[in-house]
Amino acid sequence: MDAKARIKKIAVLGAGLMGHGIAEVCAMAGYEVAMRDIKQEFLDKGMSMIKDSLVKMESKGKLKEPANTILGRIKPVLSLEEAVKDADLIIEAIPEIFDLKVQTFKECDRFAKRDCIFTSNTSTMSITELSKATERPDRFAGLHFFNPPVLMKLVEVIRGEKTSNEVMDLLVDFVKSIGKVPVRVEKDVPGFIANRVTAPSSVLLLGIIEKGVATPEEVDAKMKSMGQPMGPFELMDYVGIDTQYHILQYYEKTIGPDYKPPEFLEEMVKTGKLGAKSGKGWYDWSKGRPEIDLSKASEKINPMDFMFVEINEAVKLVEMGVATPQDIDTALKLGYNRPFGPFEIAKNLSDVEISARLEELAKFYGKKIFEPAKTLKEGKLSELLKKFGYE
Ligand code: CAA
Ligand code: NAD
Repeated sequence: MDAKARIKKIAVLGAGLMGHGIAEVCAMAGYEVAMRDIKQEFLDKGMSMIKDSLVKMESKGKLKEPANTILGRIKPVLSLEEAVKDADLIIEAIPEIFDLKVQTFKECDRFAKRDCIFTSNTSTMSITELSKATERPDRFAGLHFFNPPVLMKLVEVIRGEKTSNEVMDLLVDFVKSIGKVPVRVEKDVPGFIANRVTAPSSVLLLGIIEKGVATPEEVDAKMKSMGQPMGPFELMDYVGIDTQYHILQYYEKTIGPDYKPPEFLEEMVKTGKLGAKSGKGWYDWSKGRPEIDLSKASEKINPMDFMFVEINEAVKLVEMGVATPQDIDTALKLGYNRPFGPFEIAKNLSDVEISARLEELAKFYGKKIFEPAKTLKEGKLSELLKKFGYE
C-alpha cells in the first residue's frame, strides 16, 4: 500500500507540543499540512517552534530541502472545516480529554471527505471508543508519536475493533514514509505498548514523592547517572504535567484505582505548573532545560525498582496478547530512547528476584498493580523468553 499515492494532504489538529512536531515531520516528508488550533496565538507559537527546529536542523545539514520550503508546506488555520475538508488523513493532537476528542471527531466527520482516514495521537485512550464518534470506525486508528516527534523514531499504529486491514497497512506505510519506525498494536488497551509499560513507573515515582522517600532531583540524578537521557521528573515536565495528570485519570477509570493521580499533581495543574511548556513544573524551565545536579544521585532509591515494575507490566502485556516481547523492547527503546527494552533486561534476572521485590513494593506503596504477573509468580519467565527466541 503506497501511502504517498493515497495521502497528499494532512490535517493536524492541535499546534501544541505534539501537533507542531507532527506537522513538521509530515512536511519534512513532502506532505501538504493544514495545522489547526483554536487561537491565533497558539498557531503562531506552533509555527515559531517549527521554524526554530527546522533552522536548527538546517544549520547542522540535516535537511534535504531548505527550511523555508518545508515551512511553506504547513498552513496554520483556525477553521476546523478549512483544515479537514480536503484532507486525506487527519492526525488529532489536542488535549488528552476524552469528551473534547469525541466532540472534535464528530465535527470532523461532518466536514471531511468520505475516504479521509481519521487518527488520534492519544497517549492512552481506547481507539475503539473514540472511533464511535464517527461514521467511519473502519477508517479510524491510533497513530501515536513520541515527544519530540522530530527526534523520536517510534510511532505506534493502533487498531481499533473495526479498523480495516487496508487502513492499518496504509498507516504502517505512511509511518515509514515519514522516516519513522511503526510498531503495530493489534489490541486496543489503555496506554498501548510503550506508555502502558511505563505506567506503573509513574505511580512509583509519585509514590516516592508522596511518601517522602526521595526528592525529584535525587531520583533524576540517580536515573541520569544510570544512562537515561532525561531524569523521570524532568521527562514528566517535558511531556506536560497536565497531560500526565489526564493520563493517570484515564488509567484510574479504565485500569483501576491505583492510578488515581495524587492531590499534589492536581494542585500543580491548577496553579499552572505544567512543566516545560509553562516554564515551571518540578523544575524551573524559564531559562531552558534544567541542570540536574548529578552529585545528588541518591541511594535512597533503587533504579532496579523501576525496571521491575516495567518488566512486570511488559509480561502482563504479553499475557494479554497485546504485543510480542520483541515489539515491546523496540517500542521502549525507540519511544523513550532507552538503551535496553524490559525483556532484554529481564533475561538476566530471575523470576524469584523480580517477584520478591515486586511483592515488597506492592506492600510498601499499597499498590496492587505492582504485584507480580502470573508468569513471574509461576516461575515461567525463562519459558516465555525462550518461546519468543530470547537466548
Ligand atoms: N528540533 C530540532 N532539534 C532538536 C529538537 C527539536 N525539537 N529538540 C532537541 N533538538 C536537538 C538539540 O538542539 C541538540 O542538538 P545538538 O546536539 O546539536 O546540540 C540535540 O537535539 C540533543 O538535544 P539536547 O542536547 O537538548 O539533549 P539530549 O541529548 O538529551 O537529547 C532528547 C534530547 C532526544 C529529547 C533526549 O533527552 C531524550 O531522548 N529524552 C527522552 C525523550 C522521551 O522519553 N520521550 C518520550 C516521552 S513520552 C511520550 O512521548 C508518549 C506520551 O504519550 C506521553
Ligand atoms: P498541548 O497542550 O501541548 O497542545 C494541545 C493543543 O491543542 C493546544 O495548543 C490547544 O489549544 C489545542 N486544542 C484544543 N482544542 C482543540 C481543538 N478542538 N482543535 C484544535 N486544537 C485544539 O498537548 P500535547 O502535549 O501536544 O498533547 C496532545 C495530544 O498528544 C494528547 O492527546 C497527548 O496525550 C498526546 N501525546 C502527548 C505527548 C507529550 O509528550 N506531550 C506525547 C505523545 C502523545
